[in-house]
Amino acid sequence: MVSTQPILSATGLTMEFRGFVAVKDVTLSVNEGTIHALIGPNGAGKTTVFNLLTKFLTPTRGQISFRGNDITGLKPAEVARLGLVRSFQISAVFPHLTVLDNVRVALQRPKNLATQFWLPFSSLSVLDDRALELIDAVNLSAYAHLTASELSYGRKRALEIATTLALDPAMLLLDEPMAGMGHEDIGRIADLIRRVAKNRTVLMVEHNLNVVADLCDRVTVLARGEILSDGSYATVSADPRVREAYMGTEHE
Ligand SMILES: Nc1ncnc2c1ncn2[C@@H]1O[C@H](COP(=O)(O)OP(=O)(O)OP(=O)(O)O)[C@@H](O)[C@H]1O
Ligand SMILES: [Mg+2]
Repeated sequence: MVSTQPILSATGLTMEFRGFVAVKDVTLSVNEGTIHALIGPNGAGKTTVFNLLTKFLTPTRGQISFRGNDITGLKPAEVARLGLVRSFQISAVFPHLTVLDNVRVALQRPKNLATQFWLPFSSLSVLDDRALELIDAVNLSAYAHLTASELSYGRKRALEIATTLALDPAMLLLDEPMAGMGHEDIGRIADLIRRVAKNRTVLMVEHNLNVVADLCDRVTVLARGEILSDGSYATVSADPRVREAYMGTEHE
C-alpha cells in the first residue's frame, strides 16, 4: 500500500547543541507504506534527525506530526503508543533468555507502556502461537530454543526486530540496521525489512547505498545538517550536489 499520504512529517526541524547547529530547518515527509531512507556523509545529522523524530531529543525549533497528531511535545513512550516505534527503544533483548522467551516477553508488554507489569512466566505459554509466528517472520524458527547470546550478530538484530514487531507498530524506525554485518546477514536483514514493510512504514538510516538502492522507495539526503536532495534513489544519486557531498568521504 505505497501511497502519497504522509504518515510522518517534520517541518523546520532545527537542533542546536550549545550553539552548534547539527540540524537546520529540516522539512521532510514519509509516505504511508513506503520504505524511506535517510542518508548522508558522516556527521550529516542523520542520527540527530532520527532522535528528534523518535522524541529522544527535543528540537530547538520545528514541529513533527504523526498520523495527523502533533507529537512535538510527546515522550518516546507516548509516540510508541501511537504506533511510531524505533528498534531498541523498548525491545531490549535479554541475552540469557531463549529466542522464544524473548519474543514471549515482548508480546506480553501491554500497549500502555506506562503501566508495564509482568505476568508469571508460566502464563506466557498462551502467547506461543503469536511468538512462533513472529519468529518465523524473521527466519529464526530453527533457533527458537537457543539463547539470544548464542546467536550471530545478524540474527540478534533479527530478534530485535521481532521483539519490536511484537508491538505491531504502524511505523518502524531503524538506525543503521546493517551496521557491522557481513554480506550474508545484510541480505537476510534486507529481505526481512522488505517483508515487515508490507503492511507498515519504515524509515531507516543506512550507510550501505546498495541496500538503499535495492530496498527504499524514497531517499532523503542530508549534508551538514540540511536536506540536499529528496526523491527516488535514481534521482538523488544523479544529483551533482549529492555527488559532491559524498566526495572525499571514504566508507560510503
Ligand atoms: N549531543 C551532542 N552534542 C554536541 N554535538 C553533537 C551531539 N550530537 C551530535 N552532535 C554533532 O552533530 C553533528 C551531527 O551528528 P550525527 O550523529 O547526527 O551525524 P550522523 O549523520 O548520524 O553521522 P554518522 O554517519 O557518523 O553516524 C556532528 O557534527 C556531531 O558531532
Ligand atoms: Mg549516525
